[in-house]
Order: sequence, then structure tokens, then C-alpha cells
Amino acid sequence: MEEITYQGLTFEPYIRREEIAKQVHRLAEEIERDYEGKNALFLCILNGAFIFASDLFRACKLRDAEIAFIRFKSYQGMESTGEVKQLMGLTEDIEGRHILIVEDIIDSGITAAQLRKELAKHNPASVKMVSLLFKPDALTIGEAPNYVGFEIPSKFILGYGLDLDGLARNLPDIYALKEQR
Ligand code: IMP
Ligand code: MG
Repeated sequence: MEEITYQGLTFEPYIRREEIAKQVHRLAEEIERDYEGKNALFLCILNGAFIFASDLFRACKLRDAEIAFIRFKSYQGMESTGEVKQLMGLTEDIEGRHILIVEDIIDSGITAAQLRKELAKHNPASVKMVSLLFKPDALTIGEAPNYVGFEIPSKFILGYGLDLDGLARNLPDIYALKEQR
């Protein structure tokens, strides 16, 4: 695997597709155990989580699981704007449902906290969250996700759904911004 550049910035290989697949399957096993017979509703946060959600959902052998999509946005370039705009709302009835939020990455935690607040208004039976990646040092609000694929330091990454201004989501592996030296 080689370095790649986007917008004049250099990114180096960080997590390979094989490692990602391994964690996705580990998470799927835990989720299967916890959600067996519960008619879980996976709630994929667009855009970033769509690739992870697709792999995770297929890896979970739950006969009664469903999936829905909601779109939030809080990032401009490489900075969190601190303001979360809901771009596409939830149409499913979630009252009494066991909700599993599927996120690509938890950074400041603002998106997740906002979403949890929104969901709570509709009386779900439970709300848990799975995130492929988690930057514990960057968390400013809310709790750690219930299920985490990888804990990583606060560096900017892309690939496997994660973007830089819309680009690089289609990279099968994850890359990290290379430190300037
Ligand atoms: P939070 O609201 O700060 O937790 O940010 C959550 C959202 O910001 C994620 O769902 C991602 O879409 C985006 N994000 C956070 N960190 C990164 C990163 O390192 N690369 C690309 N997107 C990121
Ligand atoms: Mg996202």
C-alpha cells in the first residue's frame, strides 16, 4: 500500500481492509448475541457510515433485524464545525424499537449526542451505538459507543466511507494524515 494525496495533503496507510473486516465480524458476533430476537433497527448515519453499515449488517446473522438511514453533517474539511445540521430525517416509527446507531467514527461526540436527543423524543425501547472508529481524546460530549471497532488517536483519517470534503470514501483501506516533518 502506498501513500496517497488529496488536496495537496499526504495520507499514509493506517488500517488495512483485512483488519477492518476482522473487526466488523467481531462486532457482528457481539451484536448478534445482544440483539437476538429483538427486532433491532440499525440506524445508519449517512454519509460516512454507509460502507461500514453495509458490511456490518450483512455480517450480522439476525433474522429479524432492519436497517434505516438518517443523514447528519457536522464537518467542514478537517474541522468539526461544532454545529450539527440534520439533513435527512427519520421516517420510520421507532417507538418501542431497539435502536442500534451505526456510525463510522466518533470524534467530538456532538453528532451522536444530537442524534440521541432527537431519538429519545420518539420513545424507543433502547438506544445503543456501534462505531467502527473512536477517538477517545477528542470526545467532548456524551459517552463512548457501546461497540467500538478501533480506538485511535486524534488524527484525521479517510477511506472506507470517511471523506475529505466528499472525496476518498471509496478507498477500501483507511489512511491517516501524515505528520509534517
Ligand atoms: P463528531 O460529531 O465530532 O463526533 O463527528 C462525527 C462525524 O465527523 C463523523 O461521523 C465523521 O463523518 C466526521 N469525522 C470525524 N472525524 C473524522 C476523520 O478523521 N475523518 C473524516 N471524517 C471525520
Ligand atoms: Mg459521519
